[in-house]
This record gives sequence, structure tokens and C-alpha cells, in this order.
Amino acid sequence: MSQPALPFVIEPMTLADIPAVAAIERASYSLTWPIRAFDYELRHNTLAHYYVLRTSLAHPPTDTSSSTVPPETLSGQRSAVSGQSSTLIGLAGFWLMADEAHISTIAVHPDWRGLGLGEWLLLALLEAGQVLGAETATLEVRPSNEPALALYQKYQFEEVGRRPRYYSDNDEDALIFTTPPLALPDYQAMLAQRKIALFERLLKIEGNKPE
Ligand SMILES: CC(C)(COP(=O)(O)OP(=O)(O)OC[C@H]1O[C@@H](n2cnc3c(N)ncnc32)[C@H](O)[C@@H]1OP(=O)(O)O)[C@@H](O)C(=O)NCCC(=O)NCCS
Repeated sequence: MSQPALPFVIEPMTLADIPAVAAIERASYSLTWPIRAFDYELRHNTLAHYYVLRTSLAHPPTDTSSSTVPPETLSGQRSAVSGQSSTLIGLAGFWLMADEAHISTIAVHPDWRGLGLGEWLLLALLEAGQVLGAETATLEVRPSNEPALALYQKYQFEEVGRRPRYYSDNDEDALIFTTPPLALPDYQAMLAQRKIALFERLLKIEGNKPE
């Protein structure tokens, strides 16, 4: 999933990533999983497939002065992107349930949103799900989550149901969204087209040089 020319990489989540993953979750969701839930997912849930997004850039390319999240809480685990020091800035995962990839989480560090990185994570999940045998992808989303709704609609997810009062923090319903069959030629063509456009966009990101 990595692209050598990019200062970003998507790779499988490891136990060492959990503290940074939890920090991004806290900055992204009003209801979060406890750290032990990720530990369980990675160690014991054979249906679970989790990925992280890292960057070798020291800072996002845009002004982040409006961020309400203290950067020290999100600096995260540091490892390597193409041999350089890197920071964890996103996560995503799904459960492979029979012939369905059920997307359980997708989140990008607030300072790194709006650059195409959430789209890359979604694309990576759809590709990984299909490789592992998923015929469709499904997820739950809040009707109030406009960025997420727009992202999923861009990838032709459609509402197929609703879970009343699913979210316990505000009793909001969950919309159930599902893709068309992933293997449909038209869907594959759309994915290929979107991927080309996405990488053209990602290649233009000019952030600060790696630390
Ligand atoms: C949803 C989320 C992952 C999107 O990540 P992102 O990196 O900002 O998204 P991208 O920059 O890749 O945008 C891809 C598409 O998403 C949609 N989108 C993203 N942000 C948007 C916004 N603020 N308003 C409207 N649409 C938006 C657009 O369709 C966009 O495509 P475009 O750039 O061609 O317009 C991010 O907002 C996030 O982490 N949210 C908190 C966690 C969350 O709610 N996850 C979803 C749970 S169901």
C-alpha cells in the first residue's frame, strides 16, 4: 500500500501503535474505544484488520493554529517512512465478516484532514477487503457526520438501513451504508479512476521537510 514517492505510508497496525491510535481516536470521536479494545483486536480478533497512516513530514502543509488538540498528545509513535522518522496521523480498520468488510473505524489526525488522506485510508480498506474476499463493504455513520457522509458517498456507499439511537452519547441513530459489489466492473473502474486522481493530489502535498 505504500507509495515510495509520497511522504506517507499505510501499513498494518501493531501493538506499539496503540497509544498514538488512542490519541487520534480521542481527538476524532465523542465515543472512543478503551485502549484494551485495540489490544484485544490486534491480539485475538482474527476477523480484524487494522492499518495506520504515517507521515515523514514534520508538520501538515496548512496552517494548524486553529487546532484544539495539543500536538504533544498526538505526536504518536515514531517509526520509519522510507527510512525516515515518522508520525502516526491516521488509522482505519475493518472486520471481515463472511463476505463483508465491516469498517469499524477510520480517522485522520485533525491537523491532517482535508488533504485526501482519509480517502486514501478508505481506498486501502476497500482494496484490502477485496483481496481478503469481501464482496461488499459496510459501516455505520452518524447522519450529522457530514465529512464522513460525503467521503462514503464519493465511493458510492448507499444507505441501506438505520439503527435507532445507536450512539449512546446523544442517542443519535446510525445510518448503515454499503458499497455496491466491489467486484463490479463499473465499481472497479471508479476505484481505479479515483485512485489515480487521489495520488495526483497527494503527490502535490508539500509539507515541511522531515525532522
Ligand atoms: C472522515 C475523515 C476520516 C475524512 O478524512 P479527511 O482526510 O479529512 O478526508 P479527505 O481529505 O480524504 O476527503 C475525502 C473526501 O471526503 C469528503 N470530505 C472530507 N472532509 C469534508 C468536509 N469537511 N466537508 C465535506 N466533505 C468532506 C469529501 O467528499 C472529500 O472529497 P473531495 O476532497 O474530493 O471533496 C475525517 O474527517 C475524520 O477523521 N473524522 C473524524 C472521525 C470520523 O468521523 N470517522 C468516520 C466515522 S463513520
